[in-house]
Amino acid sequence: MSHLAEYDELNPFPWYDRMRSESPVQVNARGVVNVFGYADVQRALSDHEYFSSNFSGGHDENHPISASLISTDPPRHRDLRSLVSQAFTPRRIELLTPRIEQIAKELLDGVAGKGEMDIVADFAYPLPVIVIAEMMGIPSEHRDRFKRWSDAVVTGSHEIESAGVDGVIEGDPQREMAAYFMQLMAERRQHPGDDLISGLLAAQIDGQHLSDIELMGFCVLLLVAGNETTTNLITNAMLCFLEQPALFARLRKQPEDLPAAIEEVLRYRSPVQSMYRVCVKATRLGQVDIRAGQPVIAWIGSANRDEAQFAHADHFDVDRDGNRHIAFGYGVHFCLGAPLARLEAKLALTRLLSQYADFAEVPGSLREPIGSSVVYGLKSLPITCRTSA
Ligand code: HEM
Repeated sequence: MSHLAEYDELNPFPWYDRMRSESPVQVNARGVVNVFGYADVQRALSDHEYFSSNFSGGHDENHPISASLISTDPPRHRDLRSLVSQAFTPRRIELLTPRIEQIAKELLDGVAGKGEMDIVADFAYPLPVIVIAEMMGIPSEHRDRFKRWSDAVVTGSHEIESAGVDGVIEGDPQREMAAYFMQLMAERRQHPGDDLISGLLAAQIDGQHLSDIELMGFCVLLLVAGNETTTNLITNAMLCFLEQPALFARLRKQPEDLPAAIEEVLRYRSPVQSMYRVCVKATRLGQVDIRAGQPVIAWIGSANRDEAQFAHADHFDVDRDGNRHIAFGYGVHFCLGAPLARLEAKLALTRLLSQYADFAEVPGSLREPIGSSVVYGLKSLPITCRTSA
C-alpha cells in the first residue's frame, strides 16, 4: 500500500485527472506541494533555483543517494554528471547491443518449452541487472543480492513524505550494500579494470578525487536506477500490449514501430510516476504560493496524461504525433540512463516478440503492484506464450 490513502497504485490516473481539473497545484495537510499539470511539473523538475533536488540539505552519510548526482544541484551537479555521462552516450550504449541480445536470448532459453513464464522474474528483472552489473564489473555470483538492496532503496524513497523530507532510510540492506561497495572500491583501487567503478575511482574534479560517499552514491544510484525502472518499462510494455493484442502481430511484422510503442508506454504507464524536490526560494506555482522549505512532489505520471499536452491522453496510441512525454524527467537531471533503458527495452521486446506468439495473461492471476507511488510496475506478470512457427 502506498502512504497516500487515495492512491491506487495500478490506476492512479482518475485521481490525477481529478486533481488536474480541481487543484493542479495542491498543498496537503502536511504542507507537501503536489504538482499535477504538465507545464508545472516541467518547471518543478527543472527550475533548480527554486526547486532543489537536495532534500537533506547536505551530504548525508546514512544515505549514499543523497550524495549522488540525482540529489545534487548545479553547479556541483554539472561536474558530477560530466564524470559519468561519457559512459552513457547513445553511441557508447549502442556498442552493448550484441551482449544485450545475447542476455535476452539466454533468459528466454531458460524458460523455453514451458509455454508460460513470469515476465518480471524470468525476463524483465534479470536483464537490466545483468547489464548494469557487467558495466560496473560486479561478479555475476553477487547479483542476487541486488534485488533486495534496490527494493530497500525504492521502498524507502516513497517514505520521504512520512519521514519528513530528509529521506533517511535505516535498515540492514542499506548498510550491507554500503559495505559491499566499499569493499569493491577498495579492490578496484588495487586492481583497476575498464569498468565504471574503476573509471569513477580515477576521475577527478578540479584535481580532486570523489569522496568515498560520493563514489558510493554513484554505485547505489546506478544500481537502483538501472534495475527497477527498466524492469518496469519492459513489464509495463507487456501490460499495454496485452490490452491491445493486435499490437503483438503488428510489432512483430513491423519492428520499426517498436521504438514509438516504447515511447508511448513511457508516457502511458510511466515507470517513474513521481519525483521529489524541495522549495528553496519562495515562489508561485500555478495559483499557489510556496514557501522555502516545503517539499514538492512532481507527478510525472499525471503530466504525461495531461490533455493540455496530449490529445486523447488516456488512449494508448502508438501512432501519436509529437509524444513529448517527460517519463525520463526534464532539465539538467534528465535521465542519464535513457539511451540504455530504450535500447534494453527495444532488444528485449524484439526478442520476445520474435520468439513467441499468442501472449495472454495466465487466467486468474492477480495483478499485484510494487507498492509505491514513485515506481509503477507489477511484482509479477505470469503469461502464457506459444513459440512462433
Ligand atoms: C525506463 C527506465 C528509466 C526511467 C523511467 C528513468 C527515469 C528517470 C527520471 C524521471 C530521472 C530524473 C530524476 C529527477 O529529475 O530528479 C532519472 C534520472 C536518472 N536516471 Fe533514470 N530512468 C530509467 C532508467 C535508467 C537507467 C537504465 C539508468 C542507468 C543505468 C538510469 C540512471 C539515472 C541517473 C544516474 C539519473 C540522475 C541524473 C541526474 O541527476 O543528472 N536511469 N531517471
